[in-house]
Amino acid sequence: MSEKFKRDHHCGSLGKADTGKEVSLCGWVSKRRDHGGLIFIDLRDRSGICQIVIDPDAGESFKNAEHIRSEYVIQVFGKVRERSADTVNPNIATGDVEVVADTLNVLNGSKTPPFYIQDGIDTDENLRLKYRYLDLRRPEMQANLILRHKVTKLMRDYLDEHGFLEIETPMLCKSTPEGARDYLVPSRVNPGKFYALPQSPQIFKQLLMVAGYEKYFQIVRCFRDEDLRADRQPEFTQLDMEMSFVEMDDIMDLMEGLISYVFRGALGVDVPLPMQRISWDEAMDKYGSDKPDLRFDMQLINMVDAVSGSDFKVFNNIIADGGIVKAINVKGDAKIPRRELDGLVDFVAIYGAKGLAWMQIQEDGSVKSPIAKFFDEARLAKIKETAGAEPGDLLLFVADKPAVVAQALGALRIEMAKRRNLIDKDKLCFTWVTKFPMFEWSEEEHRWVAMHHPFTAPCDEDLPLLKTDPGKVYAKAYDMVLNGIELGGGSIRIHRRDIQNAIFEAIGLTDEEAQEKFGFMMKAFEYGAPPHGGLAFGLDRMIMLMAKRPSIRDVIAFPKTQNANDLMSEAPNTVDEKQLRELHIRTTLVAKKDNKK
Ligand code: AMO
Ligand code: AMP
Repeated sequence: MSEKFKRDHHCGSLGKADTGKEVSLCGWVSKRRDHGGLIFIDLRDRSGICQIVIDPDAGESFKNAEHIRSEYVIQVFGKVRERSADTVNPNIATGDVEVVADTLNVLNGSKTPPFYIQDGIDTDENLRLKYRYLDLRRPEMQANLILRHKVTKLMRDYLDEHGFLEIETPMLCKSTPEGARDYLVPSRVNPGKFYALPQSPQIFKQLLMVAGYEKYFQIVRCFRDEDLRADRQPEFTQLDMEMSFVEMDDIMDLMEGLISYVFRGALGVDVPLPMQRISWDEAMDKYGSDKPDLRFDMQLINMVDAVSGSDFKVFNNIIADGGIVKAINVKGDAKIPRRELDGLVDFVAIYGAKGLAWMQIQEDGSVKSPIAKFFDEARLAKIKETAGAEPGDLLLFVADKPAVVAQALGALRIEMAKRRNLIDKDKLCFTWVTKFPMFEWSEEEHRWVAMHHPFTAPCDEDLPLLKTDPGKVYAKAYDMVLNGIELGGGSIRIHRRDIQNAIFEAIGLTDEEAQEKFGFMMKAFEYGAPPHGGLAFGLDRMIMLMAKRPSIRDVIAFPKTQNANDLMSEAPNTVDEKQLRELHIRTTLVAKKDNKK
């Protein structure tokens, strides 16, 4: 340790046991108070805060203390003393003691920060992002990043223990757009050519299996140029893994072990194992979502049988057209105000529902509803029975195509749970969602696209359907979901060339296109590709959920805004003409300027 910046203790570590010790501390001034002669300083470092007292006898050091302000960097030498009972501060971990300073050196001054460096501030997030280095000084932000460090350390320990090797894969890759948009990087030495930043190391990790590494992992940055939300960033981190000679169950069991190891080690929380597993079909049917929040029930109930044959034309017509009618039962909510009901109609409209019908079950069991008149007593009784409705309950119905009903009622289920406080914030509900459809139909592109990615293996029993009915093919794919958020996903991969060709064909890739995009991979697979599979977790999302934060921005040191900007460094920025010329690039914006000249 350097003599000059000698520091033998950390602020947050001091306690009664240190009473009488001579200590040296370094840190930032969190607060300074003058108390008629005595000066009190709350000194902060990464470990926490402790109180320093300095009196006029300290001479030069006292003079220093008179001039310091918040966020000055100081060094203190002094003696730990127990505080008297009436001055104990129960709000800080070191509140039983204080350090009586005999020497106080100012190592550096500070401007007045634009916001308070403390927890629970309601400062505009953009200001926090602009001065991120100050925001990160706040104890709660430090706790998030310390948690993140602990988690990645535990992940490495667990995977090392289980025979995995950490191997790096390239950041400058070939652009193979499938999924999100690529971030492109121009190549100066290859005029007119571009690299893409990896959306994930998918292809490389599969090639590592061909290369015989058997168990690979990497804590790796991924880049996706997509529309951002609270749980999405343009660059984010995955815990990425791949294994050879495994089946779905092997991977899922190992991942459950990993998650339970990490939650126990970092939070002291026991994750009940095995985790629940539900199929994609069941998740969509019961919760209207492929990432169901299982912290509360309120399932989507199929009402087609119960409402069929009534006089209500809206439902009849939709059912006749191949649509469905489903409802949720909001227990005990029959007294919902009419104005709120009207608002819910607008809410489901966002998800494409053309209407929302409701039934309020009165205390005497009768049904109050604008559509009750279309249903006879027997049908109303059947509706109540199907929905498990009791006096005081509220039923909310959506009728439409199955996908719209799932979207609208799935979102309404979550909205009502939030509004009625049905979600236990301390609960951790993990589930696997398995057996995803292999393809989904893209209206935009008028073709089938791979739901996970085109290297995912179809279920063996569905292979004959690949050519005839791709929409009915299921995949050996699985997602791990925690409290309604997709934590990670993966699949067993295709290792046979004929099946890979059939998948490319199903998504409308010609032989030439497949060769052009993935030729190098397909070639590798001709040299003894082992059966293999894997999974990637979103590390940022996992830490966000563990730290109980509303956004992944809170657990990333230097995140970007919703517009993919870094407000601190002001990236992205324009670059000068010379740089562009070297890269053989002319932007249309520059061209417009040129035209004006
Ligand atoms: P996938 O695309 O499902 O799978 O990504 C894996 C996990 O990464 C997280 N994630 C994100 N986190 C923050 N911001 C984003 N923009 C973002 N996009 C995804 C999610 C997601 O579950 N190669 C495959 C994995 C595999 O098959 O092994 C893949 O990348 O938590
Ligand atoms: P209408 O006959 O269109 O005025 O609808 C009568 C009631 O049925 C209103 O409460 C509508 O909100 C509701 N409704 C209309 N279309 C649907 C639908 N697709 N799903 C559920 N309820 C609907």
